[in-house]
Amino acid sequence: MITGANGLLGQALVARLSEFAEYDLLATARQPAPLAKGASGGYQALDVTKPADVRRVFEDFTPDVVVNCAAMTQVDACETDKERCWQVNVDAVDTLARNCLAHGSHLVQVSTDFVFDGTAGPYREGARPKPLSFYGKSKLAGENAARGAGLDAWSIARTVLVFGDGAHGTRSDFVRWVVRELSAGNRIRVVSDQIRTPTFVRDLANGVERLVRFGKVGTYHVSGREVVTILEFAHRIANVFGLDAGLIDPIVTSDLNSAAERPLNSGFIILKAESELGYRPTPLDESLEIVRSILATSPA
Ligand SMILES: NC(=O)c1ccc[n+]([C@@H]2O[C@H](COP(=O)([O-])OP(=O)(O)OC[C@H]3O[C@@H](n4cnc5c(N)ncnc54)[C@H](OP(=O)(O)O)[C@@H]3O)[C@@H](O)[C@H]2O)c1
Repeated sequence: MITGANGLLGQALVARLSEFAEYDLLATARQPAPLAKGASGGYQALDVTKPADVRRVFEDFTPDVVVNCAAMTQVDACETDKERCWQVNVDAVDTLARNCLAHGSHLVQVSTDFVFDGTAGPYREGARPKPLSFYGKSKLAGENAARGAGLDAWSIARTVLVFGDGAHGTRSDFVRWVVRELSAGNRIRVVSDQIRTPTFVRDLANGVERLVRFGKVGTYHVSGREVVTILEFAHRIANVFGLDAGLIDPIVTSDLNSAAERPLNSGFIILKAESELGYRPTPLDESLEIVRSILATSPA
């Protein structure tokens, strides 16, 4: 069972898991209809912040595995609407974990590099979390809700700066934003002092599928392998898409005056996922080529 199945990762995961005949897949999300069709077990509208509804879905479907892709992911909005953020990113994980305990289900909780403070990236799984933002705090508390629920099987899949494969109906990701603005001839400001390991959503879905298949317990860093500044990432996008990189103005994070503080030197070391899961992320330029060919037939 997938929660938040209409999100960026949720849609990619429905597509990936649907490739395997052995999964009977129930997709759930807040909206009345699915954005990614084809889940073998169908689709059910579900708001994960409603405990009675969550319990009913568990009783009807009795999932062996639950992958929680539902989250409040807008980092600045989490800073200003802390109550809503906590309900979705923490309380709902607690509800899912309690239902997983009752039904013996494996809980896979998706988390973020924003649990770290960005002073010592790229990070391994054992590094000490120290979130800077309320979003990061809520995601760390969500991890702890999954980890500390007494489940036999739980996994945390942490990821970094995810970009999509052109799926419609989700919020725009960084790649689509850069492509849209540069294609329109607009100047964009991009930070030169934030370091990440950008993650192609298909790779992330593949990594999560492997966590599920191998029934892995513990925390896994599932991101891209290449460590780049966000400015360099924007240049790589412009280059692959044949767009004018001269429209990209470098800035530093402090110029942005965002509500939420972001980690600077972040990104992940993914050796554990590579060695234990056989996870092999697509090289960055190759994944951008894939996005380019998809957007060429189905523009963002
Ligand atoms: N995208 C990134 O760069 C990134 C980086 C690191 C970690 N992550 C983590 O990856 C996971 C997946 O995020 P994503 O990238 O797929 O973001 P996303 O596209 O924003 O997906 C999150 C989904 O959760 C849904 N949701 C929110 N509240 C819900 C509720 N009460 N009940 C059910 N669904 C609800 C959202 O639906 P609505 O649209 O209706 O609100 C949205 O479809 C999250 O745990 C996020 O923290 C993402």
